[in-house]
Amino acid sequence: MTAPTGGDGSGHPALAGRTVWITGASRGIGAATARNLAAAGARVALTARGREPLEAIAGEVGGTAVPGDVTDPAEVERIGARVRSLFDGAPDLLVASAGVFDIASIEETSPEILARNLDVNLRGSFLAVRSVLPGMRERGSGLVIQIGSISGRKAFPGNAAYSASKFGLRGFHEVLLEELRGSGIRATLVEPAATDTPIWDPLDPDGDPNLPPRSAMMSPDDVAEAVRFVATRPPGIQIPFLPLERG
Ligand SMILES: NC(=O)c1ccc[n+]([C@@H]2O[C@H](COP(=O)([O-])OP(=O)(O)OC[C@H]3O[C@@H](n4cnc5c(N)ncnc54)[C@H](OP(=O)(O)O)[C@@H]3O)[C@@H](O)[C@H]2O)c1
Repeated sequence: MTAPTGGDGSGHPALAGRTVWITGASRGIGAATARNLAAAGARVALTARGREPLEAIAGEVGGTAVPGDVTDPAEVERIGARVRSLFDGAPDLLVASAGVFDIASIEETSPEILARNLDVNLRGSFLAVRSVLPGMRERGSGLVIQIGSISGRKAFPGNAAYSASKFGLRGFHEVLLEELRGSGIRATLVEPAATDTPIWDPLDPDGDPNLPPRSAMMSPDDVAEAVRFVATRPPGIQIPFLPLERG
């Protein structure tokens, strides 16, 4: 089967000229994904709250910064509308990577910590997916990639709030897969193990024997490469789940 071509021959043929909206794109996995997909010829719209780092990445990859908070439904509606006007319709691909990570025992997990993890990791992803679906359905094509986690399948002590959000995200994704059957829209949950990004900075993994050292983690480029792999499968081929770990 031949992959679709859409551009000038530069980059990956299946991605040249394709439109991509990435949340959590100002650093870590989202930023690495923006670099990877833009280098393959995709047109990228990038979202995160912090305007400056977002604009720096957008400038670097030739994309467009659409800053905002994915936990706010009105803001996601506004961002979604801006992305649609930028791309003349729903993006070909959504990569929902915005996320937060807290480690605390259950007794030390405040209601605020629980709410923060659920808000960004579950509700934020839900809102972004919800905003692209109508346009993708109308067109009869699209790809939704959500960044889950190994913590959405496996329990780690101290991960109560994070795991609740990522198990919840997997539940949401499984319903999404069922609702998308026959629609022409594909969906993938990429589930990385520990990845060396700024999300670990407040936790100092190299100074805590209970955490994986950074040298044992995957790089954000590894995860971005997996996203590109998913995004370049031939039409009609769906990868429902993609767990990633260091071998
Ligand atoms: N790193 C890992 O070990 C690992 C492993 C498995 C899964 N993951 C998942 O991978 C995803 C990306 O994580 P990462 O490691 O790349 O984290 P990161 O380096 O901390 O980046 C997180 C990104 O999300 C954005 N963000 C956070 N809250 C947001 C909000 N309310 N609205 C919009 N954007 C928001 C951040 O920008 P602003 O703060 O400026 O908004 C930033 O761009 C997350 O879903 C995470 O759970 C990470």
